[in-house]
Amino acid sequence: MRLPVRPIRGRWPSGLERRLARFFWMDPSVVCADDTTPEVFRAAMSCFWLGGTFKITGAARHPNADELLIDHLDLTGADILEIGASDGSTSLDLIAKLPTFASYVVADLYLELVTVHALGHTFFLDQDGQCVLVVGRRLIGWPTMSKTVGVLYAPAIAAMQRTRAGAGTPVLLLNPQLRELMAHDGRVTHRVHDVFQPWAGSPPDLIKVANLLRRLYFPDAMISRALQILLGNLPEGGHLLIVDNARIKGIGPRAGLYRRAEGRLTTVAETPDAPEISDLIRAVGQEPDLALGEAMGSSVQADVSAGTRRR
Ligand SMILES: C[S@@+](CC[C@H](N)C(=O)[O-])C[C@H]1O[C@@H](n2cnc3c(N)ncnc32)[C@H](O)[C@@H]1O
Repeated sequence: MRLPVRPIRGRWPSGLERRLARFFWMDPSVVCADDTTPEVFRAAMSCFWLGGTFKITGAARHPNADELLIDHLDLTGADILEIGASDGSTSLDLIAKLPTFASYVVADLYLELVTVHALGHTFFLDQDGQCVLVVGRRLIGWPTMSKTVGVLYAPAIAAMQRTRAGAGTPVLLLNPQLRELMAHDGRVTHRVHDVFQPWAGSPPDLIKVANLLRRLYFPDAMISRALQILLGNLPEGGHLLIVDNARIKGIGPRAGLYRRAEGRLTTVAETPDAPEISDLIRAVGQEPDLALGEAMGSSVQADVSAGTRRR
């Protein structure tokens, strides 16, 4: 687990910052400014910890996964859905390599926060009004990451709630480069979507999920439940691309492309190192009712024990 409080770069004596450089973080409130560059915006995603996952992303993060996809599928005219896309940087990369697709939805459960500037701090609130990040003059704090930090920030959060005028300012966590693309290309849209819920739109030809269904974030029962739902979102013959950037020496991004066939996911291609959850992918759909029932039952238990906030 990361330290739930960090000093902000550029706000401390330079000698101290030089010596302890790796402990210092950038100021995430750059996401509120209109002139933030795509690179700086993308880097700021690492500061957002929401629903038990970081919004960490990067440019050129899935080159071999994108290659696997393009080598095996003709996506001309395809409807594509990317779930857990963070600020959309990886969507931009894939879009740039695709032929003439029909639509591309950049989806994430946490696409919009509200900021309140009060008491010399910037407070970031999630859709439930819970304060998830506090940026002060010198420190960043994550009150939902640690009970102690939550208690320390509680008086400031309570004072902010008392003094705040109005509803705060919404901030869209989508990269400026993606926003520009969306303004000109009507095929590319964004949507708030929870990977644990069925997709409400028309069934996509391809669903990409990268670095979300990870064992470091969720227990196996919840991952299986999400896979069962993803399977249900696909039409027969539709595809699922799973990617994980494991931080294991000598292992690059791992990816697998799977096709829905007869109510199961069959392997089309995998990178030499298969994705971390390939065993769960192979098991999904074997006994649909039983698997889903078991997964949903144990996920309730998992939610309680992991203390994660679930919808
Ligand atoms: C580690 S980031 C991965 C970002 C991007 N896919 C990549 O590989 O660079 C995980 C993303 O999943 C999103 N997320 C977390 N829980 C989610 C859920 N239940 N449904 C959809 N997205 C979720 C987070 O907001 C975050 O943007």
